[in-house]
Amino acid sequence: MKLTIAVIPGDGIGPEVTAQAKKALDAVAEVYDHIFLYKEAQMGACAIEATGNPLPDKTIEICKKADAILFGAIGELKYDNDPSAKVWPEQGLFQLRKELGLFCNIRPVKAYEKLIKNSPLKREVIEGTDIVIYRELSGGIYFDTKELSEDGLSAFDVCSYTVDQISRVTHLAFKAAQKRKKKVTLVDKANVLETSRLWRKTVTEIAKEYANVKLDFMFVDNAALQIVLNPKQFDVILTENLFGDIISDEASVICGSIGLLASSSVGEKTAMFEPIHGTYPQAKGKDIANPLGSILSAAMLLEHFGLQEEADAIKRALEKSLTLGITTEDIKGKNQYSASTSKVGGFIADYILNQEDSNM
Ligand code: IPM
Ligand code: MN
Repeated sequence: MKLTIAVIPGDGIGPEVTAQAKKALDAVAEVYDHIFLYKEAQMGACAIEATGNPLPDKTIEICKKADAILFGAIGELKYDNDPSAKVWPEQGLFQLRKELGLFCNIRPVKAYEKLIKNSPLKREVIEGTDIVIYRELSGGIYFDTKELSEDGLSAFDVCSYTVDQISRVTHLAFKAAQKRKKKVTLVDKANVLETSRLWRKTVTEIAKEYANVKLDFMFVDNAALQIVLNPKQFDVILTENLFGDIISDEASVICGSIGLLASSSVGEKTAMFEPIHGTYPQAKGKDIANPLGSILSAAMLLEHFGLQEEADAIKRALEKSLTLGITTEDIKGKNQYSASTSKVGGFIADYILNQEDSNM
C-alpha cells in the first residue's frame, strides 16, 4: 500500500515522539512492503513563530492532500499565561479539525499487565480494563460563539449541538460497540444542560437500530468517579467534546501513564492520529518523553487502512518493550535504568524488523 502521511510534529516534545512513530512506520513499510511518504507541516507555536499563523494555509493544503495525518502535540506556556494574546497555538488544532471535518475522536484506554503497578489505582480495580472513548470533536463549547465583554468583566462560551452532529458520532460508537462488548454509555449532564437532553433523545432513537447493543446513561460527574472506582463497567463511552477531553485524561491513570494513550480523529475524509498527551514543555529536547502514545497512534493509523497485521506488529513490539523494561522515566522513575525516547523508538523499530526474521 502506498500512503502519503502528513506529519505535524508541533511543539514541545511533539517532534521527538513523532520521530519515533515514523521509525516504527518505516520498519513496518520495510517488513510488509508498503510505501509511506511523509510530508512535514507546521502547526502551533512553531507555526506562529515562523508565519504569525498557528495553521498556515500550506499546512491545510498538505493535510488535505494526504491520506492521513500524524500529529505530535501543540501549545506553549507563554500563550497559556497571556490571556491577551491575539493568536495561540491551540487555535491551529481546532481549525484543522474543522477544515478536515474531523468529528469523532477515538481514545482507547486499556490496562497493560506490565504497567498495573504504575497506576495509583489498585490492581483489582483496573486489571482487565478495556474502554474506548468516542468523543465528539466538531461541536459543543469548543466551537460556538465566544466573547469577552468590552469592559473585560464578563465572558461567555456558547455550547450548542445539532442532531446531525450527535448522530454521526453516535453511529460510529454503536458500530464499535457491536464489535466489542456491546455496551455504550452516554456520558452527559442531562440534569442541567439542554444540549445533553438533546444528546439523550437522539442517542436513544439511534440505539433502536442497534438492538444487540445495550445503552446506558451516566452524568459526567458520576462518570468521573466511576472511571477510577470501577472502570471495568465501561465498554464504549460516548460523549460530547469537552466532557470527552476531560474524562479521557482522567482515564489515562488506568493505563499507568498518559504517555501511552493514542487517539484517532476521523471524519469526512482524511483521518488524524495523535497521542492524547500535551507538549510536556519540561521535557522538550531532553529525549526523555514517552514515545509510546505516538507509536500507538501510528498503529491506529495502520488499522484505519485495514493493515491489522502491521498494527499488531507494532503492538507486539510495544508489549515487548514493556516486558523488558525498555521504558522512559514516566514509567520507570528517574533512575539510571530508564531509557531515552529515541532508545525506546529504536527498540520498537528493531523489534518489528526482527520479528520478520523470526517468522521466516
Ligand atoms: C486534546 C487536547 C486539545 C483539546 C487541546 C490541545 C486544545 O487537550 O486533544 O485532548 O482540548 O481538544
Ligand atoms: Mn485533552
